[in-house]
Amino acid sequence: MGDRHDRVLSRMLLALGLTIGAPAAVLAVDGETLYKQKICHTCHGDRPSEPILPLYPKLSGQSSEYLLQQMKDIRDGKRTNGLSAAMKAVVGSVTDEEFEIISNWLSTL
Ligand code: HEC
Repeated sequence: MGDRHDRVLSRMLLALGLTIGAPAAVLAVDGETLYKQKICHTCHGDRPSEPILPLYPKLSGQSSEYLLQQMKDIRDGKRTNGLSAAMKAVVGSVTDEEFEIISNWLSTL
C-alpha cells in the first residue's frame, strides 16, 4: 500500500518536473551554441583559446565584463583598431543580450 502510494507520487513529481523543465530547456540558448550560430568560431576558433590566425585574439581567460564591452564596441564601430573591421562586418545583427550570453560562457573557459 505504502509502496504503491510512493510510486504514484514519484510519477506525479516526475511529470511535474518535465512540465516545468521543458520550456526552460527550449528557451535557454547557451553561450557555446550562440558562439557557433553567430559564426564567432570561424575566426576565433572552435576552441576560443585557438584562433585561426595568430593576429586574432584568444577569447578565453578574460572577464565577461571586458569581453562584452569589446564585442559591443567593435559592433558599434567605437573600437576600430587592428583587424576589428573584419569582425564588425559580420556581427552587426548580434544583440546585446546574445553578446552577454556568449561573454558569460567565454569567461568560464
Ligand atoms: C571575421 C572574423 C571574426 C568573426 C566572425 C568574429 N570576430 Fe571577434 N575579433 C576578430 C578580430 C580580428 C578581432 C581583433 C580586432 C583587433 O585587431 O583589434 C576580434 C576581437 C574580438 C574581441 C575582443 C578581444 C580582446 O581581447 O580585446 C571579442 C570579445 C570578440 N572578438 C568576440 C567575438 C564574438 C563573440 C564573435 C561572434 C559573435 C566574433 N568575435 C566574431 C575577428 C572576428
